[in-house]
Amino acid sequence: MTIEPEVYEAATWAGAVAGLLAERLRTNPSLRVCLPTGDTPVPVYDAVVALALAGACSFERATVVLLDEWVGLAPGDPARCDTRIRTGLIDRLPAPPAALHVIDADDPSPEAAAERHDEAARDLDLVVLGLGMNGHVGFNEPGSMADSPTRVLPLTDASRDAARARYGSRAVPVAGITIGMDRILAAREIWLLVTGQRKAGILRRALRDPESPDCPASYLRRHPSLRVFADDAAAGPMGR
Ligand code: GLP
Repeated sequence: MTIEPEVYEAATWAGAVAGLLAERLRTNPSLRVCLPTGDTPVPVYDAVVALALAGACSFERATVVLLDEWVGLAPGDPARCDTRIRTGLIDRLPAPPAALHVIDADDPSPEAAAERHDEAARDLDLVVLGLGMNGHVGFNEPGSMADSPTRVLPLTDASRDAARARYGSRAVPVAGITIGMDRILAAREIWLLVTGQRKAGILRRALRDPESPDCPASYLRRHPSLRVFADDAAAGPMGR
C-alpha cells in the first residue's frame, strides 16, 4: 500500500498532532493509547498538556501504555522512558490517566517484565510511534518480523549511538524491552511521527522501499489505519 505522509510546517506540526490526539480523547474518553518517548513527541506532549490545562481534553478515563524501555538504568534516570513519559506528559496533566502501564525494567527477570507488558499492550485503540534512524519502531530493531512479539532484545549499535548524547559519561544500555510488532499492528490505529531532515532518508525507505525486516517501520504500511505525520524537513521530496 502506498502511504502519503501528512505534512506540516515545523511550526504547526506538533499542534496538529496534539489537536488530533485531543479529538481522539474527546470521542473516546476511555482511549487505550500506547505512547513513545524520544525527542520527536516532546513538542506534541507540550501541546497536549496545554490543551488538557485548557480543558480541551482529558486523560482521566484513558489508559496510557508505554512503548518501550531501556534495560539496566537506575530508577529515576532521566534517560529512562518511564521518567521521560512522566516528566514530559503524565505529571503535567491536570488529572492523571486512569491507568499508566510503564515497563518494569527493574525486574530481575526482564523477560517476565516483557511478558507482563505484553498483556497491557492488548486491545490498543491507538499506537503512536517515533521512527528510529535505522527504521526501528519502539525497539523493534532491523531483523524484527511483522509478528515479532513483545520482548527483551539486544540493541543495535545504531540505536545506541543515536541515544549516546543523552547519556553523558554513563554507558548506553545494551538491551531494551519493546512492545512487539504484532501488538503494534493489531492496534486499531497507528500514528508514525517523524520530524527533521535527518529522518528524511529513513522515512522514504519506510514508505517507498519494498517491505523488509531491514526497516521494521515498513511493516506499518500493512495497517489499514496508518497515518504518518511529518514536518516539511522529514517529508523532503515526498512533501508538498
Ligand atoms: C528510540 C526509541 C523509540 C523512539 C526512537 C526515535 O531509541 N526506542 O521509541 O521512537 O528511538 O527517537 P527520537 O524521537 O529521539 O528520534
